[in-house]
Amino acid sequence: MSEKKSAVDGGNHAALWHGRFAEGPDAEAVAFETSIHVDSRMALDDIRGSIAHASMLGKTGIIPANEADEIAAELAKIAVEIKTGKIEIDTSAEDIHSFIEGVLTDRLGDIGRKLHTGRSRNDQIALDERLYLKHAVPDLRKAVTDLIAALIDIAEKNLNTLMSGYTHMQRAQPITLAHHLCAWSQMLVRDCCRLDDALKRIDFSPLGSGALAGSSLPINREMTAKDLDFSGVTPNSLDSVADRDYCIEFTSCFSILMTHLSRFSEEVIIWSTEEFKFIELSEKWSTGSSIMPQKKNPDFAELIRGRTGRVYGNLMVLLTMMKGLPLSYNRDLQEDKQSLFEAYDTVLSCVRIFTYMISSARWNKERMKASCVGGYANATDLADYLVRKGMPFRTAHAVVAGAVRKCIEKRKNLEDLTLSELREVTGTDLICNDVFEKIDPYMCAESRRTTGGPAQDKVREHIIELKRFIK
Ligand code: ARG
Repeated sequence: MSEKKSAVDGGNHAALWHGRFAEGPDAEAVAFETSIHVDSRMALDDIRGSIAHASMLGKTGIIPANEADEIAAELAKIAVEIKTGKIEIDTSAEDIHSFIEGVLTDRLGDIGRKLHTGRSRNDQIALDERLYLKHAVPDLRKAVTDLIAALIDIAEKNLNTLMSGYTHMQRAQPITLAHHLCAWSQMLVRDCCRLDDALKRIDFSPLGSGALAGSSLPINREMTAKDLDFSGVTPNSLDSVADRDYCIEFTSCFSILMTHLSRFSEEVIIWSTEEFKFIELSEKWSTGSSIMPQKKNPDFAELIRGRTGRVYGNLMVLLTMMKGLPLSYNRDLQEDKQSLFEAYDTVLSCVRIFTYMISSARWNKERMKASCVGGYANATDLADYLVRKGMPFRTAHAVVAGAVRKCIEKRKNLEDLTLSELREVTGTDLICNDVFEKIDPYMCAESRRTTGGPAQDKVREHIIELKRFIK
């Protein structure tokens, strides 16, 4: 018999609480209440927590030190066997805690039965979730900084690639592609900061809170916390087992991150249209149509935009599940993992896919530059020019608005007019020959030298800051 079989058939995988019950549960009841299909992804975290717990039990003399060592060694072996696939997780177990304890007890008998001393699955699950998030969230953060790096890379090559900036989806003022991409990067920086901040709040171990009221055994919570690299212990045992703020908080961080990806995806979709054509997605990150042979669609961007709804949905599930729960542990809390994990998996894959998609795209500089011509994106610059010549801004605004109206009738751009035509449409001779460089689209972007503006060295300064951040 393979070891795999004995782990499953060892007879110890009945529910951990079955002793209280004369009758076995109905198969449908078991299927309804188990969580192993969701929580088995925390198997290694569960084992890590159990090893720390066992060694604390040994060090405090609650169980003999040699038995604690035996438990820890066997658990370490089980971890390797799970990792290498030698042990398959038995999906008929109630949850990952029962399964691992069952395998241990199959192998060590009564010694294995000592592992759960001074512990409840209520503090165990709270611990496992925190341990899981403590390594999973940094993986996501890394994916986000990879995306920022990809955007910086494109930005650095496009510091003087002109494009129109938009408000209300109407051409507004000339900027550069670099300036635009750095705006998205800054949103992603905030996403990373939010994750970091939430990580700080989960860095406290709930282990030793027991079912709800700690333990009468002399367990040492600080010892296990230190062993598991937490910065401290949670200060109230009831709160420790009833708290799922972190699930809500991370899923809310994921939701905001998805909002950014969704908005950016929307832009990629618009930019891929024939009407805009600012960007051409690589074939690898596009799809075709089953009926229209010519089609090349931005489906990946659309799927990211679409999956955003699922992440928001998960946040809503968690908030609704928590609303009205009395202290302390209630089984409702088991429902947290499905939403948390689904949100995490979704956001992680979306960040990765977005990175591949955006870094393999081609940028159509000619089309972007053309968006600065027509649409009077330099009207503010003409007004600013008049302000510099002493005209009050409000007057300059009205003067240029009138000039734009006349240009629309003449079907001309401001920069197409001669000096005398410009004087005529504005009705002022404050305008001299130096106006033309001021209303040239490139100069319009370059002369906006305020901190955070589109001028090349201002964007370069921002890039330096972004690079410092992702390092
Ligand atoms: N599987 C449960 C959860 O995910 C932990 C077990 C606690 N069960 C209980 N009956 N107290 O929350």
